[in-house]
Amino acid sequence: MATWNELFLNEKFIADLPQPEVYKFVKILESTFPDRPLSIWDFCCGAGRHTVLISQMGHKACGSDISENGINHTQKWLESNGLKAYLEVADMTDNLFTGMNFHGVVSWDALHHNTIDNINKAVENVYESLCEGGMFMVSLLNTKSGRADLRGKEIEKNTFVREDGPESGVPHHYFDEKGIRDLFKNWKIVSLADIVVTYIDESIIYLNNPFPYTKWNVIVQK
Ligand SMILES: C[S@@+](CC[C@H](N)C(=O)[O-])C[C@H]1O[C@@H](n2cnc3c(N)ncnc32)[C@H](O)[C@@H]1O
Repeated sequence: MATWNELFLNEKFIADLPQPEVYKFVKILESTFPDRPLSIWDFCCGAGRHTVLISQMGHKACGSDISENGINHTQKWLESNGLKAYLEVADMTDNLFTGMNFHGVVSWDALHHNTIDNINKAVENVYESLCEGGMFMVSLLNTKSGRADLRGKEIEKNTFVREDGPESGVPHHYFDEKGIRDLFKNWKIVSLADIVVTYIDESIIYLNNPFPYTKWNVIVQK
């Protein structure tokens, strides 16, 4: 059973370029808060592309992920560029940074990898770790994402686990709009985008495809 920890030992599963959305989110934080450096948490940072970006942009970066190999890769990537960040191997439900007063937290393509109770717990922890007015940017799977017949076994409403492929054994929770609004009921919604991409023809494999897939993109504020 492949896990993300195993995937991060294979270069083909390591994204080397940051999402432009994350760069723009940091710019929003820069225009919202006068403090420098800003403190920004890359929540479920994977192999570190956004932790490196945040540090490169001159801010105090923290990164956490359940994958030790991901964190090790992030550490080496930072060191090879003369950069620093505070890194922890941790589950998304761990109460790592309560009271830390982050200006921003980003979680790209990761928070949906759990059951809904654990996702709720993770979001509460993020809330407790932000300063007043601090923002959280998240991308999440949409009930309209991908082919429903390829999601695997439904272990609770809208949470699926596949038994084959590179993400076998990893839960994926798919959100509808009500699910998103419930998840962020204690937050102010700054931006909620239902990004729906319809492929007319698609004969490029997932990992090489330059185009986006259907997702929720969300910015919420404490
Ligand atoms: C698709 S990768 C995205 C990584 C990174 N955010 C990026 O954009 O490159 C999903 C990440 O979620 C992490 N993850 C999955 N379940 C987790 C959990 N329970 N706690 C913390 N991290 C988890 C995986 O280890 C993996 O790094």
